[in-house]
Amino acid sequence: RQKLAQYNTIDDAAKLLRTSHNIMVITGAGISTSLGIPDFRSKGTGFYERIRTLGYEDGEDVFNIDNFDDKPNIFYSLAGDILPDQKRFSPTHAFLRLLQDKDRLQTNYTQNIDNLEGLAGIDKERLIQCHGSFATASCRKCRHKVPGEEIFDDIRAKRVARCRRCTQTIAKQPKKKQKAFKLRKNDWEDSSDDGGEYDVPEAGVMKPDITFFGEQLPDNFFQRFTERDAKNVDLVVVIGTSLKVAPVSEMPNYLPHHVPQIFISREPIQHVNFDIQLIGDCDHVVFELCRRAGWSLKHEMIPPH
Ligand code: OAD
Repeated sequence: RQKLAQYNTIDDAAKLLRTSHNIMVITGAGISTSLGIPDFRSKGTGFYERIRTLGYEDGEDVFNIDNFDDKPNIFYSLAGDILPDQKRFSPTHAFLRLLQDKDRLQTNYTQNIDNLEGLAGIDKERLIQCHGSFATASCRKCRHKVPGEEIFDDIRAKRVARCRRCTQTIAKQPKKKQKAFKLRKNDWEDSSDDGGEYDVPEAGVMKPDITFFGEQLPDNFFQRFTERDAKNVDLVVVIGTSLKVAPVSEMPNYLPHHVPQIFISREPIQHVNFDIQLIGDCDHVVFELCRRAGWSLKHEMIPPH
């Protein structure tokens, strides 16, 4: 994608906000850090760095689906750190809400799993949680889905959550299958009639429905992006993400090249040619953008003038 020559400054960005009506906003962990929620890759504070200090070589391994199936206890020992329990949203979430209230927000594609968009009042129809969320959890064995809160106590206690439906099914199974594990006198006499099924059946492990590396993105992501939003978007605003994880990182380059793209984050990026990069704390940047657009952004973290 080639940069569009006519857009350069923060005033150009403010003008684009004022004149656009189908704004696609792509967000990442940076929009929640002002609330004390760590992002993933920031030096010193990111979740992955913290994981490395605990002895895991690559932070992303925690979100690898094969690793989860192999050793779910590792995920459960760390998931408490990213469990959404915030009762507040940031000024940048308030900015998204303002765009919605002005009927300019086409869709917010969020990579975040903290559910704060919902708390800020973003309509379900305008929100795509690209990497899923903690709102539900599913059994890796029987696929049984439950409300996410059902496993929060286990996550907080760093205990692997097991599927209740599997557990009930196992309890209903004839005792015979577990016979092999009881102390018996003459094992050789009747071992053949169990058909070798001596495994104690184990209930499946519950996994929050956040998208792990190696898993499909939620169904609504691709269809909405390619068949609807990409066709009528008139402005793209990407906020608080390092754009290092595909397919979200590929979204800007997929869109029609005449659509202006703005990037707001603490660190500039080189691998996408945004038209305007506004580098700084996103809460401050969106506040300043609104001021220049003549909009009033209200939030308790913005000092009243
Ligand atoms: P990253 O941690 O990779 O990037 C967050 C970016 O936001 C960094 O470049 C920070 O500099 C910037 N940032 C942090 N605080 C900020 C602030 N207050 N204002 C402005 N910028 C700020 O997080 P994501 O890009 O969201 O996936 O990570 C993408 C995906 O990688 C996550 O969804 C997660 C992870 O693996 C899964 O778990 C599936």
